[in-house]
Amino acid sequence: MYCLFGKYHKNTMPLPHSRFHARLGTFRQLEIFVKFAETGSISQTAQDLHLAQPSVSIQLKKLADNLDVALLEQVGRKLYLTDAGRELYASALEIFDAVGRLESRLGSLSGLQAGLLKLSVVTTAKYFFPHLLGPFCNMYPNIEVTFNIGNRGAMIQRLRDNKDDFYVFSHPPEDIDIETLEFVNNPLVVVAPANHPLAKKKNIKFSALCEEPFIMREPGSGTRHSVEKFLLDSGHSINEKMTIESNEAIKHSVMSGLGLSILSVHTLAQERSEDIAILDVKGFPMQYHWYLVYLRNKQLSDIAKTFLNFLKSDGSEIAAELLQNSTAKDYIKSL
Ligand code: PGA
Repeated sequence: MYCLFGKYHKNTMPLPHSRFHARLGTFRQLEIFVKFAETGSISQTAQDLHLAQPSVSIQLKKLADNLDVALLEQVGRKLYLTDAGRELYASALEIFDAVGRLESRLGSLSGLQAGLLKLSVVTTAKYFFPHLLGPFCNMYPNIEVTFNIGNRGAMIQRLRDNKDDFYVFSHPPEDIDIETLEFVNNPLVVVAPANHPLAKKKNIKFSALCEEPFIMREPGSGTRHSVEKFLLDSGHSINEKMTIESNEAIKHSVMSGLGLSILSVHTLAQERSEDIAILDVKGFPMQYHWYLVYLRNKQLSDIAKTFLNFLKSDGSEIAAELLQNSTAKDYIKSL
């Protein structure tokens, strides 16, 4: 077995002054290795890091040679991480995390508030979260931001892997030790083409919609999770006609008459009421909330702490204001 400070032998603790770090390779090699671990592909690693494929292979081999351990193994035509490779990957993430905190601390010492802020948000949060980032980045122009977007399932995996400083969910996972900060409502509404016969009706019973074709988000989506919970709790069923991974494609499908859907009001902020209608269905909007989430034991960098304080003081107001002039404004009065 290998650990960060050297080979681990039974009954032998790693030497505190081991020179293992001298064999750990360069930061660039670790960066290449991390990218490979995440993409599983030499060609994708080369493309993402703007390197030639042979350079990626050479640097990975040098890293393994220095450590005197196999990091990758070939099964069929595919390369996989060995157990040692997975250990190195986990440690490399911690190393880069520590370097990020150092950058932030040095930035604070020089009064620059520099550093890297790493954010991951579920697909639906992309409609409002950049509007929170804008004012923050204006206040701290020297910071860098990475902003990942994916469905709830993909973001939960990033959270488990401790990839980022903060995550945004409307359904934070319950089996991970996290802190949550609720900052704005997330109403879910039933949408239909603007010319749908029910578009002008009031107080529609959900049972009146059960024969309508519905377009649903994909498994792993938080929106789908909410709809499935609603159906389970209410005992209704729907005629699910299509599954689409994108809110944008769902809206266009609804507008073109392919079916109804249930979406977050935030996805409709820029839509025109001539194109898409929000149906007045009993029990809707379903009221959920958006949460900023981070691992409870995460050592937040200074810039991450500053962002957290910014969200606590200004986040709810900015996010709520965003929707005030949208087509969905009647549905968000309670925000
Ligand atoms: P989604 O998440 O974009 O994965 O559907 C939205 C949510 O969590 O409500």
